[in-house]
Amino acid sequence: MVAAKRVRRLETAATGTAGSVIHQRFSVAYEYPVHFTECLFAPHNPTLRDTVTRIEADRRHRCIVFVDDGVCSGVSTLIEDIVAYAAAHEEAIALVTPPIKVPGGEKIKNELFHVEWMQGLIQEHRIDRHSFVIAVGGGAVLDAVGIVAATSHRGLRLIRIPTTVLSQNDSGVGVKNSVNLKGSKNFVGTFAPPFAVLNDLAMIDGLPPREKIAGMAEAVKVALIRDAQFFYWLERQIDALSIFERTAMAFMIRRCAELHLRQIAHGGDPFEMGSARPLDFGHWAAHKLESLTHNHLRHGEAVAIGIALDTRYSVLAGLLAPGVEDRVAALLELLGFRLWHPALEARASDGGYPLLEGLREFREHLGGDLTITLLAEVGHGIEVHEMDEGRVLESIAWLKARQSTQ
Ligand SMILES: NC(=O)c1ccc[n+]([C@@H]2O[C@H](COP(=O)([O-])OP(=O)(O)OC[C@H]3O[C@@H](n4cnc5c(N)ncnc54)[C@H](O)[C@@H]3O)[C@@H](O)[C@H]2O)c1
Ligand SMILES: [Zn+2]
Repeated sequence: MVAAKRVRRLETAATGTAGSVIHQRFSVAYEYPVHFTECLFAPHNPTLRDTVTRIEADRRHRCIVFVDDGVCSGVSTLIEDIVAYAAAHEEAIALVTPPIKVPGGEKIKNELFHVEWMQGLIQEHRIDRHSFVIAVGGGAVLDAVGIVAATSHRGLRLIRIPTTVLSQNDSGVGVKNSVNLKGSKNFVGTFAPPFAVLNDLAMIDGLPPREKIAGMAEAVKVALIRDAQFFYWLERQIDALSIFERTAMAFMIRRCAELHLRQIAHGGDPFEMGSARPLDFGHWAAHKLESLTHNHLRHGEAVAIGIALDTRYSVLAGLLAPGVEDRVAALLELLGFRLWHPALEARASDGGYPLLEGLREFREHLGGDLTITLLAEVGHGIEVHEMDEGRVLESIAWLKARQSTQ
């Protein structure tokens, strides 16, 4: 009798708990403004003050500011301007310490001690989850400060203030951050949407011409795969863009940022859980060229070559009408890009092409099947799951032949 009861109890336990599953499910809506303004730190510009007071309007908000040292050489009064801005809005903004200069460019991403150093400053100044981390800089500084903000106290409010064309029209408006680990690009990173992004067109003024040109590759890329009208606009504005005329630059940056934001919000995969990165047209070769040249090629310069390569490939694969590749290459060249680098045809000791390794590495970064975006027509990308090596080599030969006629 007792034994029978015990068996029944065990059976109940088995069906009641051990064999059952609780399906946990919840969603979190993300929302952040991306402002386009000029002279952000002029005391009369309300954008930054309104951003920190967006929630908890009546509080004085504690802020720590990290500034790319390269921007300080472009805008020599930047640190004083930020201090003066905070003083003019002292009812809303409390700087916990004067703005801190950090190394600009890939340097800050290459050594993890920069991240640890910044985390230490956040700890020392008792920045909490209601305070703000403000990052002023190019894509590299935004990436590194982004990982610091995302990991300190499991995530702090981050305001990004991008200062390069590339970070204003692409990298700074998105949801990713990362640093490099032992030469492995973007190995350590998180997906962490910012609290806000504040794009200041005037920041671009002091940027070296080479950097201004590099950022335009992302506009050509996104126009080609998403927006034919934008591509035709870029063609019509070549003269203005090649001298960085202000109105043309402002529109180019805004439209490019808008198309990237749209993809993140409506593309169905903001945190890249699948195997595709639809906006990474031209990027498999670009990432490899950046590492093969030890970052001698800027990201945008490598992307321009990658775009030209994959556009020619699209024609050779029968996906795209012949002639479009010449049009795309001409636009890139007139914007100031050089579409050839010897690393394209470099050979390893076993005779193989290191560039082709880029396809494997591109797949490995996401996992799953290889997924490459190619072109079906101007404004319309198409995904493929294999690339023919012979055609890639033919596309490289086309770039080389084109270069020799320049
Ligand atoms: N998170 C993402 O989604 C994402 C996407 C694309 C690229 N990225 C990353 O972005 C980085 C490249 O960013 P980038 O192209 O903006 O360049 P960058 O951050 O490497 O900056 C280039 C140089 O310009 C200087 N600089 C920046 N702003 C300046 C200004 N206003 N005036 C004068 N000098 C200035 C910097 O100090 C640096 O020396 C790479 O590390 C790349 O991996 C990230
Ligand atoms: Zn890119």
